[in-house]
Amino acid sequence: MTKPLRVALIGYGFMGRTHSNAYSQVNHFFDVPYQPQLKVICGLERHVAEAFAKRWGYENVETDWHKVIERDDVDLIDICVPNNVHAEIALAAAKAGKAILCEKPLALNTAQAEQMVAAVEEAKIPNMVSYNYRRVPAVTLAKKLLEEDRLGRIFHYRAQFLQDWTISADVPQGGMATWRLDVKAAGSGVTGDLLAHCIDTAVWLNGGITDVCAMTETFIKERKNVETGKVEPVGIDDACAFMCHFANGSLGLFESTRYARGHKALYTLELNGEKASLRWDLHDLHRLQYFDHADDSLVRGWRSVHISDSDMPYMKAWWVPGLQIGYEHTFIHQLADFLDAMGKGEAVSPNFRDALETQKVCDAVLASAKSGQWVDVR
Ligand SMILES: NC(=O)c1ccc[n+]([C@@H]2O[C@H](COP(=O)([O-])OP(=O)(O)OC[C@H]3O[C@@H](n4cnc5c(N)ncnc54)[C@H](O)[C@@H]3O)[C@@H](O)[C@H]2O)c1
Repeated sequence: MTKPLRVALIGYGFMGRTHSNAYSQVNHFFDVPYQPQLKVICGLERHVAEAFAKRWGYENVETDWHKVIERDDVDLIDICVPNNVHAEIALAAAKAGKAILCEKPLALNTAQAEQMVAAVEEAKIPNMVSYNYRRVPAVTLAKKLLEEDRLGRIFHYRAQFLQDWTISADVPQGGMATWRLDVKAAGSGVTGDLLAHCIDTAVWLNGGITDVCAMTETFIKERKNVETGKVEPVGIDDACAFMCHFANGSLGLFESTRYARGHKALYTLELNGEKASLRWDLHDLHRLQYFDHADDSLVRGWRSVHISDSDMPYMKAWWVPGLQIGYEHTFIHQLADFLDAMGKGEAVSPNFRDALETQKVCDAVLASAKSGQWVDVR
């Protein structure tokens, strides 16, 4: 028996679409205890919200998120707005006792994130943060292999997230999608936008990060702000690289940029252990590369494991062996796990508290880049 879960989604942009797709699909593929009901869509422009509501089947449209929180016909608030609006919506939603699914990064900074964690924990409401890459089946399989200790002692963790869409000085700051270039809306540049994903996955797979040493660069110093109409200084990091220590003694190396010509969204990660290594690449997301030193030396080499069989994470719910899935499915997996945990009254990961740890690492990275010193995350 499924119970209805009345959803209000705030933000009809890129993530609004991925989340709406997940609400529409989750019951078709997963046995979860809730049936999402698309109650309200909220966004800044009414005519866009109305078109979105029609396309995805939302019953109501709002342009003021405060009105959404006040409604008593809503159980879950889904936050898909720019980073500077996450905290105020989450704090109000927690006060109103609504469950919350929040897009990443959790907040603009650690202080804000701490307030948000306190609010959801005090209100005892189900909460989750959308670090969806954990739920790419190949990445979930990597976690399983690590839990089975197939890699042995870990020496290195390496991750990159490379894009190239802001190379032109004509790309503005502020406004739909390009709010990412406005530090007031985004909090930071690639650190909070892209490295936050890499950090979340890294901490999940390899444990806590203890200290960091970073460098950042802003290649284009001024851009037009579409909201003010003026050319204004750019306050975000266009590129960031950092090295770190993990609590397990391994060394980490992370890099992200929006200036890697030719790379659109290349998230890669690699772990090197005493017994084995593994590597994953978002552009080939249905494969996990695996090297096992215990293999017979005559055939030893990197294996490319195609994640499609039903014994692979999440794949039982999908098609038949040999047929793969993609990016949008990570949001369906995330929602399925959230609904399942909610039904059992259990916490799900990453929740607000987990996302606070990522926020602390991001803040330490930015502080280190500013000071030129190693910064302790704890
Ligand atoms: N998990 C991921 O992989 C991933 C990918 C992209 C974005 N994100 C995160 O999702 C969030 C949204 O990003 P996006 O790419 O969907 O942005 P977007 O620019 O595509 O959409 C933003 C939406 O927020 C709405 N909005 C802005 N201010 C608002 C306000 N005050 N009240 C109500 N609505 C408001 C806009 O109307 C728009 O619908 C960000 O936090 C971002 O970091 C996560």
